[in-house]
Amino acid sequence: MEKDIIIKELSEKINNVKSIQELNDVKVEYTGKKGIITELQNGIKDAVDKKEYGMTLNEIKNAFNDAFNKKQEELNNLEINKKLESEKIDITLPATELPVGAPSILEKVIEDFEDVFMSMGYDVVDGPELEEDRFNFELLGLPKGHPARDAQDTFYVKGDELLMRSHTSPVQARTMLAKGGKEPVRIICPGKAYRRDDDDATHSHQFTQIEGLLVDKDISLANLKATFDVIAKKLFGEERETRFRPSFYPFTEPSVEMDISCFNCGGKGCPICKGTGWITVGGAGIVHHNVLDNCGYDSNKWTGFAFGFGAERLAMLKYGITDIRTFYTNDLRIKDTFERKDV
Ligand code: DAH
Repeated sequence: MEKDIIIKELSEKINNVKSIQELNDVKVEYTGKKGIITELQNGIKDAVDKKEYGMTLNEIKNAFNDAFNKKQEELNNLEINKKLESEKIDITLPATELPVGAPSILEKVIEDFEDVFMSMGYDVVDGPELEEDRFNFELLGLPKGHPARDAQDTFYVKGDELLMRSHTSPVQARTMLAKGGKEPVRIICPGKAYRRDDDDATHSHQFTQIEGLLVDKDISLANLKATFDVIAKKLFGEERETRFRPSFYPFTEPSVEMDISCFNCGGKGCPICKGTGWITVGGAGIVHHNVLDNCGYDSNKWTGFAFGFGAERLAMLKYGITDIRTFYTNDLRIKDTFERKDV
């Protein structure tokens, strides 16, 4: 057996292969059923010196395995490098653009209010949307049969005691009762309200109010005016002016409508303020003594003011939205259709 020749030959063959496939062919050629090494192995039975023959055979086998493993690793590495090369990502290419969302304009208006009121020491509270008649009406000075109930066409859910709240004012009663008439109150409550309305561009059966209540000692309309002034300037611009107009709400006395000078024309008159120079943004007043007494606050000791803003109306004015239904129809184009003053 010409050991050296065999080893030289198999080394050359293995060294010359260019692929795993070719390497496997060489393997079959040597170790397959009729392979060269297999035949040599079968020859051991006829060998004169079996020990010597076996040792030489082992040398050949080891030489084959070493060369084979080395080549196999080499080819595998080559394969990996080729893959890395072909699958490499060009990070300098522009990225695929993913659609991104935008904060809801309504949420944005509410958060702006929350920020200003929190900076003045108010808490932001919540109340149920499914409400009891007594919180929504009775405790606020609207007993059954009161004509002012008609202005709030209400969704009754069960008999005439359970309803979808027609405003966020019931949270005033809930908060005062929870505080037990002992400590001052300073809250705002942004939330949904519901009324039986025929939906059109300016009416929606669902809408959002931002309710506010402050109860303390010696509170007057002047405190309400000063607070409203801060809100108007912070949310609509430092040059805004404010005014009150007399109004009526059963839960406040006196009651007012809150106007700000038009942020579009500065008060000169334009289509947005319908030529008046003023825009009404909510109702307010001094908390009626009956409401304080109904809710556990002795009206001889405590006084307060309350207000309610319409969030959709504010958002519509601020962002030039002309149809209130836009807020509720889930058309995603809302996020980039309107003139967004915040982006
Ligand atoms: N709840 C009133 C409405 O829905 C708005 C309102 C007016 C709330 C005056 C108040 C207030 O707290 O003092 O029309």
